[in-house]
Amino acid sequence: MSDIDEKQKRIDEILVAIPTARDERELENLRIQAIGKKGANTELLSMLGSMSIEERKHYGPRFNANTANVTSAVSLRKGQLAEEAMNARLASERIDVTLPPRPEPRGTIHPVSQVLDEVTAIFADLGFAVAEGPDIEFDDYNFTKLNIPPDHPARQMHDTFYVARQADGSQHVLRTHTSPVQVRTMLKKKPPIRIVAPGRTYRVDSDATHSPMFHQYEGLVVDENISLGHLKWVLEEFYKAFFEVDSVELRARPSYFPFTEPSVEWDLRCDRSVQGQIKFGTGNDWLELAGSGMVHPRVLSMCGIDPKRYSGFAFGGGVDRLAMLKYGIPDIRPFFESDLRWLKHFGFAALDVPTLDGGLSR
Ligand code: PHE
Repeated sequence: MSDIDEKQKRIDEILVAIPTARDERELENLRIQAIGKKGANTELLSMLGSMSIEERKHYGPRFNANTANVTSAVSLRKGQLAEEAMNARLASERIDVTLPPRPEPRGTIHPVSQVLDEVTAIFADLGFAVAEGPDIEFDDYNFTKLNIPPDHPARQMHDTFYVARQADGSQHVLRTHTSPVQVRTMLKKKPPIRIVAPGRTYRVDSDATHSPMFHQYEGLVVDENISLGHLKWVLEEFYKAFFEVDSVELRARPSYFPFTEPSVEWDLRCDRSVQGQIKFGTGNDWLELAGSGMVHPRVLSMCGIDPKRYSGFAFGGGVDRLAMLKYGIPDIRPFFESDLRWLKHFGFAALDVPTLDGGLSR
C-alpha cells in the first residue's frame, strides 16, 4: 500500500471513530491525529507541493475534503457530547417539586409571648427602647425608691412574696410590678428617657383572673416639659395599634400610686353587649386597662434626676389581661398550666413575628 493510501485509510478510520468518541478528550485526540500539526491529513497536504500538476488536481480536492469532513464530524460530535453532558447534569440535579414540603413547625407561640412581642413592636414604633430588670428585685427598688418607705401602708396593697433576708440584712422580693425598672433606668440613664419594660411580676393572689406569676409592661418617659397630654396620646396610639382599630376612647380616672402625682387610671370604651365578644371604640362599657401618672418629684430626685428641670410620665398594665381581652381567653389559670391542647388552640404560628407593617396578629 502506498504512503498516501495508508494515510487515507487512517483518516477514514478516524472519521468512523469520531461519531462514537466518548468524551471531549478522545475527540480532540482524534482531531489532532487527522488534522493537527502532525496529523495524517496535514502530512498529505504537505505532499501536494512535490506532486505533478495532474496528481495535484487528483489529490488536492480529496485532501481538502478530508479536512472539511473531519472538521464537521468533530463539531457535530462536540455538540452531541455537550448535550449529553447537560442532560446528565439536569438528571442528577433534578428536584422533585412534587415532594411534600417540610412539615409545619409543631410548637406554637404562647399568647403571652405573642402579646409581649406586639407590645414591644408598637412601642418601638413610637420610639421607646426596651428595658429589663430582674424578677428577684431589691426591696429598695421595688418599694423605697418608688416612694413606698418600709412602713408605708401601700406595701400592703401588693401582697408581696418576700425572699429570706440576706446575711448582710438586705431584703429582696419577687418584684410586685415592673415599676422598679423605672428606678433602674433612671439610676443609670440621663433624660431624655423613653423605655418600655415588659416582664414577669409576682403577687400572692390566685383566682380565675389572677395568677401568682403574671406579666406587666411598664412605660417611662422623662424629659423637659413632659405633660399628661403626652401620656394620653401615647396610650391612645398604643391601644389603637394593639386592638387593631381606627379609633379608641380613653377615660381618665383619678387614682393613687405613691410614685406618681397626679395618678391616673385609664379605662377604654368598649361594647360587651354581645355575649363573649368585645368591641373597642364603641359601646357603653368601660374596661380598666392601665395605671399611670406623672412621675413623683421625690422619685425623680431619689433616682438622681432634677425634678425642677425634668418631668416624666409612667404607666403600667397587665400583659396577660391584654392577651385575654384581645384573643377572647376567659380564664388566666390555663396560661401557665402547659396543657398542649390549650397551647395548640390559643397559640400562634411560630414563624409569624408581629410587626406593625406586616400585621400584629393573623
Ligand atoms: N405599678 C403599678 C401597678 O402595678 C402601675 C403603675 C405603673 C402606676 C406606672 C403608675 C405608673 O399597679
